[in-house]
Amino acid sequence: MKENLIIAIDGFSSTGKSSMSKIIAKKLNYTHIDSGAMYRAVTLYAFQQNYIENQTINIPLLIAHLNEIKIEFKQDSSSQKNHTYLNGVDVEQEIRAMQISKMVSPISEIPAVRDYCVALQQKMGENGAIVMDGRDIGTTVFPNADIKIFITASPEIRAKRRFLEYQQQGKEIALEEVFANVKERDYIDSHREYSPLRKADDAIEVDNSNLNLEETVDKVMEIVQSKM
Ligand code: DC
Repeated sequence: MKENLIIAIDGFSSTGKSSMSKIIAKKLNYTHIDSGAMYRAVTLYAFQQNYIENQTINIPLLIAHLNEIKIEFKQDSSSQKNHTYLNGVDVEQEIRAMQISKMVSPISEIPAVRDYCVALQQKMGENGAIVMDGRDIGTTVFPNADIKIFITASPEIRAKRRFLEYQQQGKEIALEEVFANVKERDYIDSHREYSPLRKADDAIEVDNSNLNLEETVDKVMEIVQSKM
């Protein structure tokens, strides 16, 4: 059995990548890293500093201050979940807000932002024993990852899942708005010039349109175990 592997889980938004990666990491006693949370934290920082006004990003200013952004993951003592910290403050809830979801794709298109996040991701994963989920983990962050999975599902199903999540959190957002956001992010993420979302040639594709979280985890674990 191989040890301390790097497992890359990429795919479209709202495919349940993070939830499944968390469970898989726990089963393997590995660390889970949600790379999307980093782009969300950079987006929140840009809002906090007023670098985003009327949906326009002041890119030079954001780039000039990238080195002032400190992103960490720490386990929450009560929920045992990994929480995202931005400059020492727990922002796990804040970075999931719709306002952030709407601006995170244009922020993550900026090459300097990507370089900053990718360097951090490579550092966090350098010793292996990690499950990292995102859009370009198997292509750019860890092109030599031991196991690469690419998760897909229809946009309608993904929007419905995200909509139900918002409902459970008591957030009033129309399904149409969530669907539009999912489609817009799919487009921007897969058409950006620098490190777009795409399946690595050696990644194994899993379509979970008709699978629930548990079934998806079982399927991915089967693949993982066959390669360990
Ligand atoms: O996984 P998520 O939906 O929380 O990611 C938020 C955004 O971050 C997503 O729309 C695109 C960007 N992202 C990226 O460009 N590269 C990654 N490795 C992860 C996320």
